Amino acid sequence: MLALRTARKKQDRLVAYLTNDVQTAMRDLALREMEIIWRLALAVEARDGGMGSHIANVAAISRRLALGLGLDRERAELIYLAAALHDVGKIGIPDTVLQKTGVLTPEEAEIMRRHVEHGVRIVRDGVTDVLKAAATIIGGHHERWDGSGYPAGLSGEDIPIEARIVAVADVFDALCSERPYKAGMPFEDAFAEIVAGAGSQFDPACVDVFKQLKSEIRAMPAAAADNQFFAAADPGAFSSAFRPRH
Ligand SMILES: [Fe+2]
Repeated sequence: MLALRTARKKQDRLVAYLTNDVQTAMRDLALREMEIIWRLALAVEARDGGMGSHIANVAAISRRLALGLGLDRERAELIYLAAALHDVGKIGIPDTVLQKTGVLTPEEAEIMRRHVEHGVRIVRDGVTDVLKAAATIIGGHHERWDGSGYPAGLSGEDIPIEARIVAVADVFDALCSERPYKAGMPFEDAFAEIVAGAGSQFDPACVDVFKQLKSEIRAMPAAAADNQFFAAADPGAFSSAFRPRH
């Protein structure tokens, strides 16, 4: 009897040890994937002079909107990571268009719009949840609630929620950001632009949450430093995506 109890205790300790090992390994895997995503997104943003603040801000605002809309922590974290890749397709846009400081001609604007298809091609058929979410976000972040967006002209809830969320965060941060061809818009003006776009450009439910989060969004760092994205990630939420599925 005593021998049996001792053997059981030994077995329990072994299970605890192995469980801890697996959790550490999953967290490590998640961290590696997160870091590669961040570096890839940073490399692309560097092509048009960015230092990572736009992708970090879009990711942070998107995650906050996702949680505000009632999405769970794991899905919000997937959106956080995948949102960083929303413009990864800009790697396929020629410098003459991407780095042009003046207004784009209609032909150049058409070339620029193709960053969506370039991006989808880069992440298409990904096996991880993050790349699947990235494909959804990249493909849908320039669609508009009223159906006048691109590339597919989807409208309303036919646009995936991940893309509807990132559309709000992307436009808001782009308005606030200083670019070689424009000054950054003051917070209140950019905020008003998003509110005015509810029901035409943006999902009204996303804009409602955006309005509720006004003071929190105002308090977010204006220019995220390199690595802030990575440091602000929540590997605990993300690594749960690596759990075996039954
Ligand atoms: Fe874009």
